[in-house]
Amino acid sequence: MADNTNTNTNRGSAWYTPLNLLIYDLHVLRINMTYLWGCPISSVLLPFFVDHFSEKHLDVGVASGYFPSAALSRLFSSSTSSGGTATATENSDREGETERQITLMDINPHCLTTAQSLIQRDNPLSRVKIDTILHNALNYASLLESLKRKFTSVSMFNLLHCIPVPCKEKSSAFRLAAECLEDGGVLAGCTILGEQDWDEKSKKRWLPKIGMWHLNHLVGVLSNQNDRKDILEQGLRENFGEVQTEVVGCMLLFTAKKPIRGGGLEEG
Ligand SMILES: C[S@@+](CC[C@H](N)C(=O)[O-])C[C@H]1O[C@@H](n2cnc3c(N)ncnc32)[C@H](O)[C@@H]1O
Repeated sequence: MADNTNTNTNRGSAWYTPLNLLIYDLHVLRINMTYLWGCPISSVLLPFFVDHFSEKHLDVGVASGYFPSAALSRLFSSSTSSGGTATATENSDREGETERQITLMDINPHCLTTAQSLIQRDNPLSRVKIDTILHNALNYASLLESLKRKFTSVSMFNLLHCIPVPCKEKSSAFRLAAECLEDGGVLAGCTILGEQDWDEKSKKRWLPKIGMWHLNHLVGVLSNQNDRKDILEQGLRENFGEVQTEVVGCMLLFTAKKPIRGGGLEEG
């Protein structure tokens, strides 16, 4: 495992102990995403991840590894189980026995180990090459040269709402993504917004308000009460030529293309 953190594990990642990672998929992904944040994984987040998952993929902020593992499982099961009407992608997977290269980046080593194990457990080892890198997603300045312009897609799912810095500073993660992507690559991600920017239905519900307070002030795993849609969009535009966003429930979904290298922020 490459180690390039240059910082201590922060309070947004310290929660991810081996024990908590055992309950993460059920508690955080299946229950909280649907009932607190109004953005279910089955109908919204996993399809969104799969749509932006390519041969050379970097996943930033991995926790259990659920999204890359599930995306790979879908890919490999479709390439082995379809009959005579296979798509072009499925045919190329079968004929070339496509190998997927995935790099996992996280500030917490437990997450990297857990995610790597899940992907290896649920997918054919011969067809997935996994690299792990211990690195702070805000730290674009110390990014390894070997990671620059290497990837055709980068995912940043449920990462930004965990990082305990002011919203504007979270844009450093967009700059890191822009540095890592090939010219034609795409960044896709999602993050829970502060209450001001939730959709109208969510603003009327008590459950997400209580969840925000509890997870920001008691558990401390979220740091997002002041995360604003317009600030995050500005950060994306400073680092990418083409940006799309959508609010689903309490969550901002974003995609960004045409990376601008050496983006809008001063060297950090
Ligand atoms: C809520 S989990 C999201 C995991 C996964 N992407 C998902 O959607 O299920 C946040 C992850 O980001 C990691 N993380 C938090 N702060 C980070 C930072 N500054 N740099 C890199 N990873 C960080 C945590 O360790 C954790 O694995």
